[in-house]
Amino acid sequence: MVSVKEAEKEIYYDAYKNFAQQKDDVFLSPTRYQKISARENRSDQDIPCLTNLCAGKYKLVWRGIPMMKHSIDLILSEQLLWYVKPRTIFEIGCYTGASALWLSDTMKKYEVETHVYTVDLDTSLVDPLTKNNENITVIEDDVGNISNIFPEEKLKSLPHPWYISEDCHFHVMNTLEYFHQYMQEGDYFVIDDTSPDMPSYRPDTLVFDGEWAKLGKLEVLRDFLKKYEEYYRIDSYYTDMFGYNGTMNWNGYIKRIK
Ligand SMILES: C[S@@+](CC[C@H](N)C(=O)[O-])C[C@H]1O[C@@H](n2cnc3c(N)ncnc32)[C@H](O)[C@@H]1O
Repeated sequence: MVSVKEAEKEIYYDAYKNFAQQKDDVFLSPTRYQKISARENRSDQDIPCLTNLCAGKYKLVWRGIPMMKHSIDLILSEQLLWYVKPRTIFEIGCYTGASALWLSDTMKKYEVETHVYTVDLDTSLVDPLTKNNENITVIEDDVGNISNIFPEEKLKSLPHPWYISEDCHFHVMNTLEYFHQYMQEGDYFVIDDTSPDMPSYRPDTLVFDGEWAKLGKLEVLRDFLKKYEEYYRIDSYYTDMFGYNGTMNWNGYIKRIK
């Protein structure tokens, strides 16, 4: 007769055995990397689900510093950083610097030597923990001036793979076009908040009023990816891990394939 202890052990032993199978079914799938033309503009996450997830988003801190990351995208990025192990990270839109610090801390935890460049129009909110970190460069500038912020010679000297996080939501096409010229196979774009279902933030509540969709970030990304379809694939391992586009970054985890 199987003891209770043995039966309990068996549950987790089976889970451990199934882990590799479940992951590899998708990780190694021939349909993992998808053309933008094959992707739908929809998500399995509906508004009731997002209401709670987005409410939590505005309570998150990293090392005590307020951070504007969706919980699921924090996990997806953490997974991607582990597999890709970027040597250079670009973040457009640093806000308090918490996300740049999180990116840098995560790479340090993974024992990868990585430098993070984070850009914002106004860096007055950036925490000293980020400003004084030797692995992070905080740049105060308008991303509309991207060719001055990251001139060609500078970019050519920075080690790959690159992880490029677009999280300022302005000049998006210009930013994508600019980095495109210097990216290599294996680099990633992570385009934040392409979901048209982002709520508007009010002091006491979140309102799903469709205002965010008017920015058209999803369409800008689609136009870029259509133009350069031979170079990029949506990495569905990440976008679809929590359901189809189960992320605020619809179609937003993108691998350069050549
Ligand atoms: C959504 S917040 C960034 C959130 C941050 N990455 C995080 O995860 O906590 C967007 C930031 O983009 C900055 N921003 C807006 N327009 C910009 C521009 N033209 N150039 C650079 N930064 C800009 C804003 O000042 C703001 O701090």
